Amino acid sequence: MYNERLDKRAFDELRKIEAEVGVVPNANGSARFKIGNTEAIAAVYGPQEVKPKHFEKSDRGVIMCKYDMIPFSVSDRIKPGFDRRDMEISEVITNALSRAIFLEEFPKSMITINVYITQADAGTRCASLTAASMACADAGLPMRDLIASVAAGKIGDSIVLDLTKEEEDLHEEGATDVPIGFLPSKNEVVLLQLDGKVSREDLKKIIAIGKVGADKIYQIEKEALKRRFSNESKS
Ligand code: CDP
Repeated sequence: MYNERLDKRAFDELRKIEAEVGVVPNANGSARFKIGNTEAIAAVYGPQEVKPKHFEKSDRGVIMCKYDMIPFSVSDRIKPGFDRRDMEISEVITNALSRAIFLEEFPKSMITINVYITQADAGTRCASLTAASMACADAGLPMRDLIASVAAGKIGDSIVLDLTKEEEDLHEEGATDVPIGFLPSKNEVVLLQLDGKVSREDLKKIIAIGKVGADKIYQIEKEALKRRFSNESKS
């Protein structure tokens, strides 16, 4: 039974969110997205020449994404370097963004995306994807839509939105975590992973609660982008 959340949030309540774009002056586009105690900073460079050359595609651009948790992002310092988890997360971010960006407009070019997790309390791949998507929009890349991403899941008998690490670790209650990424205005799913066990019916409920959360995140992303561009037009 999981009748009350550890941090007292409602089951469909997101953690507190902060979002801003244009946070890395030397990048072509950048964004910071913080949800509870999870924070991602994304920097986008390009379109630029593809290096190494053998990754080049004659009919479209390629995305090179690198996700990294910085050593002090969690309480037990993380060993620096690129491990299998970093590789997997970099790949799922790349795949999701490939569905959002019109890559066919950049043949033989590369878009480089670096995402750094400065604080981690679960949901880092979702925060990274949201930050990377805002950073791509900030870089002026043509996109079908922004991506809004959040994890949802099930703890005990309850369907929950935006799990914390403490919630993910409720093994006795059988916590299940489902990171989801949407193109909200297209109603398309561009990221869906599953950590745990869940029935088909519950998975539908998890995706539905995830969409409610993603729609709120989508509004926050758009507001951050509007703030950036209205500040620019004033200066
Ligand atoms: O972060 P996300 O939920 O997307 O991915 P995960 O691999 O399920 O990791 C869940 C959480 O475990 C992270 O958000 C961190 O809070 C924590 N973690 C950690 O403490 N040390 C690691 N080396 C990796 C993850």
